Amino acid sequence: MKIVRLGLLGLGTVGGGAAKIIEDTLSEIERRLGGKTTIRIEHVAVRDLNCQRAIDTSNIKLTTNPMDVVTDPNVDIVVELMGGTTLAKDCLEAAIANGKHIVTANKALIAEQGNALFAKAAEKNVIIAYEAAVAGGIPIIKALREGLSANKIEWAAGIINGTGNYILTEMKKPGADFAKVLKVAQELGYAEADPTFDVEGIDAAHKLTIIASIVFGIPLQFDKVFTEGISKVTAEDIQFAEQLGYQIKHLGMASRTKTGFSLRVHPTLVPNSVLLANVNGVMNAVMAQGDSVGTTMYYGPGAGAGPTASAVIADVIDIIRAEDQPQQDRVPALGFALDQLEDAPVVSIDDIECKYYLRCFAKNKAGVLAKITQIMADKSVSVEKLHQEPCVNNPNDATLVMLTNQVNEAVLNSVLAELNLLEEIDGEIQRIRIESLGEAS
Ligand code: NAP
Ligand code: HSE
Repeated sequence: MKIVRLGLLGLGTVGGGAAKIIEDTLSEIERRLGGKTTIRIEHVAVRDLNCQRAIDTSNIKLTTNPMDVVTDPNVDIVVELMGGTTLAKDCLEAAIANGKHIVTANKALIAEQGNALFAKAAEKNVIIAYEAAVAGGIPIIKALREGLSANKIEWAAGIINGTGNYILTEMKKPGADFAKVLKVAQELGYAEADPTFDVEGIDAAHKLTIIASIVFGIPLQFDKVFTEGISKVTAEDIQFAEQLGYQIKHLGMASRTKTGFSLRVHPTLVPNSVLLANVNGVMNAVMAQGDSVGTTMYYGPGAGAGPTASAVIADVIDIIRAEDQPQQDRVPALGFALDQLEDAPVVSIDDIECKYYLRCFAKNKAGVLAKITQIMADKSVSVEKLHQEPCVNNPNDATLVMLTNQVNEAVLNSVLAELNLLEEIDGEIQRIRIESLGEAS
């Protein structure tokens, strides 16, 4: 039996899950590898050598120095599951320099440093596999990069952060408390080490960066993704949206426009009739529209030990199958060879056009609504749906919810700037973009 030896950097949620799969499912993995190859965990780096682990580590070399693993001549594949973009980057570079193939779940690292890492890996004939970095257990990289390779892809959009979707789903329950729900998501192993990455959309922006790169064949451009989190979405917004026939989802969207690519992550009203609106809890889903295939959707658990580790071990199996192939016969990391990536512009959020949900608290007296709609009408923004009810916290105010027609973001911003100056409006106006994702709305 040929033994492929793995060096794990990290044995936490995902690392522990990967080790557990190897322990529980090894004979099936060996069968998939043709019956003459097996895998073994050789060397593992953790921070705390005394911590209780998901597997028995008595026969595994343990260290607190990840570089020990990366430079260990007995390690064939480095599996990076510790996170971060500094030490993890140094480790991957050292692994590449040592000619070791790499599996990683680290979307931050791929999104921010991937262009350089993939170039270095190609020079050294090293594979970097990163299926677990996007949408947890859904094999989305493979589906978009290989399954849809006959298509020119027009757009891809998805719920790509499990923690955020879990929070938005739980907030629909009466009395749900944002902080408590987030704590549960952390306990379930869904959240990032710094959960503001989940809540403020940074994690989704990392994943969208990767999705955009593989669907359009463009370099990874994390710094150009417009990113807005879910921390300002209230339980009231979720209820109003539902009354109007929508769900609020935290979407990542990548689309072609006439002037460049649009890359954005923000809370979004999605009509109930769109499948994505019904993706709840930790589940993720990604839709992609190709010119031949039409609209497709991929659904599954987006975070947690088992689903993420499932993608990690699938990558290990893929590497073992592909490592003897000449580099030109392998699937390029981003689906397009590095010299085929198109450096087209990414458009500003100001240039997008969509419908908007607006919610404000306004003085409950004659003429206020007329004043508001006049400011909107002056800029050709019309109200397609209106809902008004007494404000719960202030009897002198009314809560106004308006859905606009399709307008340019810069125009909407100028309307909001004027409305926010009105003394009849209390506090900031809430604005959430609406997307129908290919369906008539
Ligand atoms: P985690 O539970 O915090 O595990 C991190 C592991 O790395 C721990 O075992 C930790 O050791 C070890 N580690 C961290 N820094 C280290 C250092 N300087 N030296 C040695 N060991 C170190 O994190 P996780 O949730 O598994 O996430 C790991 C990676 O997977 C991240 O890149 C994350 O973004 C990504 N990811 C996570 C999920 C998910 O659902 N959790 C899903 C997809 C992708 P100790 O155990 O001793 O602290
Ligand atoms: N924190 C991430 C999420 C983990 O909640 O989606 C999966 O990438």
